[in-house]
Amino acid sequence: MMYQCFIVHKNIVGFFVAAGLFLFVPTGFTQELGKEIFTQKCSACHSIGKGRLVGPDLAGVNDRRSEGWLLKFIKSPQAVINSGDPVAKALFEEFKMVMPDQALSDKQIRDILSFIKKNGISSSASTPPVALAGPVPQHEIELGRNLFQGKVRFANGGPSCTSCHHVKNDAVIGGGILARELTTVFSRMGGEGVRAILGGPPFPVMQAAYQGMPFTDDEIRALVGFLQHADQEHAYQQPRDYGWGLFGAGVGGVAVLMGFYCMIGRRRKKQSVNQDIYDRQIKSE
Ligand code: HEC
Ligand code: HEC
Repeated sequence: MMYQCFIVHKNIVGFFVAAGLFLFVPTGFTQELGKEIFTQKCSACHSIGKGRLVGPDLAGVNDRRSEGWLLKFIKSPQAVINSGDPVAKALFEEFKMVMPDQALSDKQIRDILSFIKKNGISSSASTPPVALAGPVPQHEIELGRNLFQGKVRFANGGPSCTSCHHVKNDAVIGGGILARELTTVFSRMGGEGVRAILGGPPFPVMQAAYQGMPFTDDEIRALVGFLQHADQEHAYQQPRDYGWGLFGAGVGGVAVLMGFYCMIGRRRKKQSVNQDIYDRQIKSE
């Protein structure tokens, strides 16, 4: 309520008055802003005190790193890695992906950091990725694979994953190369990480592709199950199945072609030139 007044003032009285008022705004306000930005931009990949998702648990990050480092890193992780910073390089080694740049001001980042500080129950920074509880039933893996390839459509629409991603799996042929291969994504980020990404894709391209077309819980479960399966299986999968599939298709194709040529051949042999002339004459009568 009061804050809304301030915002109104900001418009009417002008920037400097508002900036003056801002100094007196209780820290709770800053935290609210921080929470909002965190939920929108960070929580798909980071938890605070609930373990690793796509990126590290951010509980206690204010104690682990200096503020200067955090401001630089959050704006552009790639730039910090490129600068040769050993901490950033180690994080990249561990998580095998670079966090996307965040277009945020210093103030917004400080708001997030103060929200993290107040809400983080410290936990170990990198618990290993968790596997799904219990084996995934075969029909779910099957559904996940079909959704991934677009053989089954998503309930709310949206493109198949193979339009951008590839997975090495016998039963999946081809796939896009726009985005990363997902064969071992499960080992890298665990069930929670993949689920978090599908719950709200943090990547602009993927986000745009599924804008307003969220996945259902069943679809997410099936896709995560399929990706876990693909990850576990890819190590000892032989191209044998795939080969037989192609071989089968080849044999089928040859059979069809041969049938086709036989028909043409039969017609040729049966109908002589004389027959043709005879037919024409019959017709013209
Ligand atoms: C797409 C997933 C993703 C998003 C979105 C994301 N991060 Fe990250 N973050 C990562 C990954 C992965 C790492 C591991 C470091 C690396 O290789 O980039 C990381 C690392 C970090 C680190 C360093 C942690 C440490 O232990 O030193 C901080 C701090 C951080 N992120 C903050 C944020 C904040 C704040 C936001 C939101 C504004 C955010 N991240 C959004 C994936 C993400
Ligand atoms: C329009 C293209 C597009 C579609 C469709 C798409 N993605 Fe993505 N996805 C991306 C992009 C871009 C990224 C960012 C990382 C990269 O460059 O690969 C990404 C990243 C991911 C990641 C994190 C990968 C990693 O290693 O960091 C996962 C998991 C993922 N997508 C799963 C899926 C699944 C499952 C589907 C199908 C439901 C899907 N995506 C559909 C474009 C797409």
